[in-house]
Amino acid sequence: MTDVIKKENKSTKVKAPIVEALKKAYENPTYQFHIPGHTKGNGSLPEFRKLIGKKALSLDTTDEFDNLGTLHPATGPIKEAQELAAKAFGAKKTFFLLNGSTIGNLAFAMGLTKKGQKIIINRNCHRSALAGMIISGADPVWVVPNRLEDWGIWGNISPESIEEALKNNDNVGMVWITNPTYEGVISDIKSIALICKKHNVPLIVDEAHASLWNFNDHLPESALKLGADAVLHSLHKTGGSMSQSSMLHVAENSKIDVAALEKALKLLHTTSPSMLLLASLDAARANLESQRGKKQLERAVLNAKYLRREIDKLEHIHHLQPDFGYKTDVTKVFIKADGLSGKRLESILEIDFNIEVESASDEGLLLLSNMGNTRADMQYLIKCLQKIDKSHYSDICYLENKKHMPMLSPIIKMSLRDAYYSEKETLAKDKCIGRISGEVIAECPPGIAVLLPGELITEAHMPYLVDYDFIEVIK
Ligand SMILES: Cc1ncc(COP(=O)(O)O)c(C=O)c1O
Repeated sequence: MTDVIKKENKSTKVKAPIVEALKKAYENPTYQFHIPGHTKGNGSLPEFRKLIGKKALSLDTTDEFDNLGTLHPATGPIKEAQELAAKAFGAKKTFFLLNGSTIGNLAFAMGLTKKGQKIIINRNCHRSALAGMIISGADPVWVVPNRLEDWGIWGNISPESIEEALKNNDNVGMVWITNPTYEGVISDIKSIALICKKHNVPLIVDEAHASLWNFNDHLPESALKLGADAVLHSLHKTGGSMSQSSMLHVAENSKIDVAALEKALKLLHTTSPSMLLLASLDAARANLESQRGKKQLERAVLNAKYLRREIDKLEHIHHLQPDFGYKTDVTKVFIKADGLSGKRLESILEIDFNIEVESASDEGLLLLSNMGNTRADMQYLIKCLQKIDKSHYSDICYLENKKHMPMLSPIIKMSLRDAYYSEKETLAKDKCIGRISGEVIAECPPGIAVLLPGELITEAHMPYLVDYDFIEVIK
């Protein structure tokens, strides 16, 4: 197949104010008597400087200097870039985030809720949401999504479960849900948003894995367009920016307290934001809006469809397809192989074929068809899967008796924040059954809770705790 990117129209240039300001600063260097103290790489370890390049270190600076603007409050090129991002994603306001979507989740809880309130939230939320609730003191009301048992992953959140939680609880600060799941399973956000509006409660959607949705018609609709009040996008995950850089978008008709959110972000953010990371967000948005970026994304979608078609021809390897009652993001290809655990399939791909996947779990593993992947990448992957399909690999992971994807319903004994700050003791794991957990156990990936402070530890938790010798429990 001809690579679509080769046909790129070079004449279309999209504005990227931070990138332009950084370029200007690089081309007009000053005598620098400020942070960062490596001073354009002169003070760095030579091996490191050689590895990443002097230019990268010269560009490593923070806000305030060289007319680059400031992050809090947003001024200059940073303000302009955030405004362009808001327009591109269809938001009323966009905040650039460092420390990933993690800081967005912390700010949602800290800025929009307080102790004594409740937050209706899906149990398979990311651990950053848990940290947010520990900070704010609002108590989670857990909504347990559907489970896709055959695939060993969480499924969609039903609108009915949100409606029920809203009917059964008062003083709800917000409904806060993850969409899509890590593996790309989608919930009916439109219906959930209507229910939230009926109850006059804001809907916040952790769309960490959905930053591409607004830029391709074959991808699902972003919650920003379906009635949510605010969403998070980990641009660094799939959108093309550098690791740790994310965006928080407030929807056009949102009624959330944006000033309170901004105050929380200011308190939580570093006071030395990396201009490289901010520029990478600006560049990622500009790329997604450009003809080139659109073609890259189209290629990612076509590659994913191609991969799925080829997997359909295999006998023992399967991919998660849209099924009854839920939909998926086509670019997130969750596969499983008969007779092999996800972890075993991951190690076969890694050791025998030099392929690194996004994540693996008990039943299967997740492959991302990214904007940067070529057709040749896909062809290689397919060739390897074909070989595995015909081979007789045996599973060995079951010997560990270890589980990876937490799929349990919690038994809550104490409030999350109170338990987190209670006096604790550390016990050998086998002495902990029947005790109340004092710590967050949520390994990444997927960063979903096995146990939270305040929850009863039972026999069912043990297969998830194989790597733990000791656990903190409430005294
Ligand atoms: C659903 C979800 N939300 C938030 C996060 C945190 O994102 P980041 O890594 O950008 O801090 C993750 C990370 O995996 C996630 O899966």
